[in-house]
Parts: sequence; C-alpha cells; structure tokens
Amino acid sequence: MYDSGLKVYAPASVANVAVGFDILGFAIEKPGDEIIIKHGKKPGLHITKISGDNKKLPREVEKNTASFAALRFLEHIGESDRPLEMEIYKKMPFGSGLGSSAASAVAGVYGVNEFLGAPLEKKDLLPFAVLGEQVADGAYHADNVAPSLLGGMVLVRNATLDYVKIPIPYGLYVSAIYPHISILTKDSRSVLSEDVKLKTHIEQSSHLGFFLSGMYTSNFKMIGDSLKDLIIEPQRAQLIPHFYEMKDLAMNNGALGFSISGAGPTVFGLFDNSLNCENASEQITKLLTKNNIENTVYNSKINLEGAVKF
Ligand code: HSE
Repeated sequence: MYDSGLKVYAPASVANVAVGFDILGFAIEKPGDEIIIKHGKKPGLHITKISGDNKKLPREVEKNTASFAALRFLEHIGESDRPLEMEIYKKMPFGSGLGSSAASAVAGVYGVNEFLGAPLEKKDLLPFAVLGEQVADGAYHADNVAPSLLGGMVLVRNATLDYVKIPIPYGLYVSAIYPHISILTKDSRSVLSEDVKLKTHIEQSSHLGFFLSGMYTSNFKMIGDSLKDLIIEPQRAQLIPHFYEMKDLAMNNGALGFSISGAGPTVFGLFDNSLNCENASEQITKLLTKNNIENTVYNSKINLEGAVKF
C-alpha cells in the first residue's frame, strides 16, 4: 500500500455557526481535499503535484498551507529529514467560506502522521494544522481546522487550543450554498468593527449559551430560537449578493437558522428534517441562478468523522 502512497481526505467546514465567531465550527460531508503521501527520493518533505488549484497555490513547502502544517509536525517529532512526497488534490474552491485552506492544512498533517504510523493521536495534530491555516489567512483561529480534523461540531479556545465536541442531535441537517464569487478571509475580516456594544454582547452571549444547551438536549426549538448572529452577520451581509433574500427563503422553509459560513460567501442553514433542507436549498439556488450567480449546493448531515484515510 505504501508504494502507491497513503491517501487522506479532510472535509470542508462551516465556521462561526452564527453564534460562535472564531470559536465554533462543524464539518460537512462534501466537498473536501485529498492528499497522497509517498516515500520520497531525497531528504525532507517535497510537494510533487498539485491539481485543481489553477496554479494558484505555492509549490514551496514553507509557503503551502498543507506542507507547512506537515513540516511543523515533522520538526516536532524529529523527522524533518525523512524523505517524503506530497501530492495535493484541491477539490474545493478558494475564498468560499468553506474552510478550504483549513482542509488542506488538516489533510497535510494528518496524511503525514498516518503515513508514519500515527506517532501522534489525531487530536494532537490540531496545533500544527492551525499553523498551516494561518499561512493562508494570517489569523490564528481553529474554528475551521478543529472540525475538519476531528469531525462533528467543535467549540475551541484559540489561545490554548483546548476544545469540546458538541453533541449532534439526531435529525439535524445542514445546507451550505456556495455562490461562485470569491471573498478572501482577510478582506472579510477587514470590514469588521473592533467594538461591540455591551448590550449586544450580552444578547449574543445568551444566544451562544442557549444554542449549545439546545444541542446538548436535542431541543430544536431552543436551537432555532438561538441561532442568531447580531454582531458579524450584519457587517458581512453586504459582501454577499442577495443575502437577506436567501435568508428569508430559508426561514420560510423551516430553517432553524441561517447565516454566513465562515468568512463567506457560502451561506448555510440548519434544519430539523431533510425535506425542509432540500426545499430551502432548491429555492435559494433558483434565486441565485435567476440573478446569474452560479452556485453549488452541499446538503448533508454534519460530518462526524473529520479527516479520514482511504
Ligand atoms: N472565523 C473565521 C472568520 C473563519 O469568520 O473570519 C474564516 O476563516
């Protein structure tokens, strides 16, 4: 098996989840990135192939998010000289709000760890994956990386990278709709004000607390009453064409809540049944298409596995 390499997959993720800017995210089934790790011919890690990136990604190991994460891990375990080759198959769009660079960073470090016989536990790869993603967007937050690596919905404390996996109620569905426009995370962060009014902070904190309580107790009513973003969404909605029309369609079709996935432009809704999820996404895709905005819909349950090897 090792002659043809070891292949891994890391899924896309929805960060922020309306209530937890930079600290909460969940993984979805598709899309995701694939990476193959092979024995190399010369010392150190080398990127030998990247496909699906329109030649946009750096080939240098110190600049590429996937190899950067793997390099920091190899240093940590004292294996920097190990001859290794990395092939990167980008299967998801850049600047989509689906955690594309996080998925690459996760696949890179997870693939190398698995190839070497898993010297570290999966959870202990988190710091290296976060460093890899930071190369791409400049900011240090684990709300995409943690769910892409570990699966499920993850609450993370960025300063220490300790995390909690949040229970997923049976019957929870997600629709992620990607309008084919690109918004870079750094641009989407630059529109955000540094200040939050105390009154708004209090209300938003109660939404986060009640949302998590709803997840722990499978209380869809509580989840729906709380899945609201008073701080970030109003500032970023202007970057996403037809955002409020899409939101109305989702809410009128029974969404528990609807907001921006990560830095956008992908938007997402949570639903307590698959029929509402399908109906809402169908209407949203029609709206975008009518307005000449190409789009892709990803409907699934929350991905519980995170990164996997084949
Ligand atoms: N929490 C981040 C943001 C996710 O919304 O800017 C995008 O990388």
